[in-house]
Amino acid sequence: MCGIVGILGAKPVAPDVLKALKRLEYRGYDSAGIATLEKGRLTRLRAEGKLKNLEAKLEATPLSGTIGIGHTRWATHGKPSETNAHPHASPRLAVVHNGIIENFRALREELIARGHQFATETDTEVAAFLVDDELAAGKSPVEAVGAALKRLRGAFALVYLFEGEENLLIGARQGAPLAVGYGDGEMYLGSDALALAPFTERIAYLEEGDWVVVTREGAVFRDAEDRVVKRRIIHSAAGGLLAEKGNYRHFMAKEIHEQPEVVGHTLAHYIDLSALRLRPFAWPVDPAGISRVSIIACGTAYMAGLIGKYWIERFARLPVEIDVASEYRYREPPVEARDLAIVISQSGETADTLASLRYAQAQGAKAIGIVNVPSSSIARLADAAAPTLAGPEIGVASTKAFTCQLAAIACLAIGLARARGAMSESEERALLGELVAAPGLLAQTLKLEPQIEHIAHRLARARDVLYLGRGPAYPLALEGALKLKELSYIHAEGYAAGELKHGPIALIDEDMPVVVIAPRDALLEKTVSNMQEVAARGGRIILIGEAHAAEEAALELDGFLPMPEVGANFAPIVYAATVQMLAYHTAVIMGKDADQPRNLAKSVTVE
Ligand code: G6P
Repeated sequence: MCGIVGILGAKPVAPDVLKALKRLEYRGYDSAGIATLEKGRLTRLRAEGKLKNLEAKLEATPLSGTIGIGHTRWATHGKPSETNAHPHASPRLAVVHNGIIENFRALREELIARGHQFATETDTEVAAFLVDDELAAGKSPVEAVGAALKRLRGAFALVYLFEGEENLLIGARQGAPLAVGYGDGEMYLGSDALALAPFTERIAYLEEGDWVVVTREGAVFRDAEDRVVKRRIIHSAAGGLLAEKGNYRHFMAKEIHEQPEVVGHTLAHYIDLSALRLRPFAWPVDPAGISRVSIIACGTAYMAGLIGKYWIERFARLPVEIDVASEYRYREPPVEARDLAIVISQSGETADTLASLRYAQAQGAKAIGIVNVPSSSIARLADAAAPTLAGPEIGVASTKAFTCQLAAIACLAIGLARARGAMSESEERALLGELVAAPGLLAQTLKLEPQIEHIAHRLARARDVLYLGRGPAYPLALEGALKLKELSYIHAEGYAAGELKHGPIALIDEDMPVVVIAPRDALLEKTVSNMQEVAARGGRIILIGEAHAAEEAALELDGFLPMPEVGANFAPIVYAATVQMLAYHTAVIMGKDADQPRNLAKSVTVE
């Protein structure tokens, strides 16, 4: 949430700050701002709304400073407005902030009592005034920030720019990511390596509790105890992963269409394709000794985990618990050393998921992190990394990361089954055969886009939409409903088809589209019966399934999306693109911004 950037440049930095912010806009887009030193004087430009509004202001009032900071905001404290937009300032400095300062109320009262006047509703201003007070008392900027950081509680990343200091930025990390980029006579700070990719591939990450003093000559890192520490400079591959839309209208459309390729890459990471055997996996615990698996995630990653539960239970015969991270971390669930935790996160920075990982580890469990960003906090903290190779996902609603998460969990489930002796080698080969066929079948479903667009015109007129499925298609129904909700703002619910008669059936009438996801499996007949129940009440059915399912139902359908023949196990991977495209086209038809839906952000680094 919120993207931050800082540049110590050899030339005017405003265009590059803007360029970096464009690559961070997925983190928040309700306002944006920049501060530079113009002849040593702090100068700010801020604008409500998307980055293009700030861009227009910068065109009208160009800035020429060679040092600057920038911010793109996802509001937590205070409504989206120009006043609440970052950078925030005090007479001696400007600051950009990502995260939440939890003790800001107490600090604010203390600072008001000392005579400070707050101009905004944000929690960030306290981080400005605390440092300002230390400077006023005669401390240097480094001493002042060092002292102020000790007073801040919460999860945040900060970058400070000081009046009159042409060669100094100070960054801090406590619970939200921050990276330092090394350029040629230029230095950078940013929320992630992707933001800095146009300028440098040489990146060092701040560790938890670190703060860093950056000049054009380099960076000096200090840990939470203020000891000077070394942080390794790594070569980031983010530059090659260009965040461009290509010929697509939206990143989301591009990312949906990339799925056959990136799911294939992810599978190839886990499967030796020529031998059709799983590659060895470095389990953080002996799989034979595991008594239970706990899956923890948020949002779409949680939906992937729900599908993974079906696979792990079915293949490895291991009990699986699954929880949304915001509940898991505070429920204090009993965890044993024989438990295996699996955390799933595209960004690897989601605050609740990260805290859950720490909780499980503190209780003695080992954890696997299924993560898309290899340099992220979760990927680094997990005892074993299970990467997804989706590449940068820019659309706020997760698509290709989801199907890659499914690919990774499917491989882990088969691996667990084999390692525990619950599956024979020939069964492994058979399942892997089904799995490696998935990307090709996924490519076939993408060809249904014109039909999907046609159906989307009808969904766009609906007030509510119901999604039904059984078995692993049930979590996909949840994901379909989530996608439609977040992109089109149409109310949608996913239900286990068998639960239909326990509530949602009361909603069904001729105005209610019901999307039924019915792969060919042992439960198909039962799902078909549920379709009959919907039809009997006048509901309008949109069926996603094989031709066989439509024949079996023998109903007049409002829409039918014929799926390729796919084995019973991995249909969710193949079918996922249909619910994604349904939501995408509905949103586009309704004139909504599919890449940046209102109120949402991609990387949720606050609770
Ligand atoms: C936000 C995003 C979702 C994502 C979720 C979890 O809600 O909008 O697309 O699924 O966070 O994010 P993570 O990075 O942990 O997968």
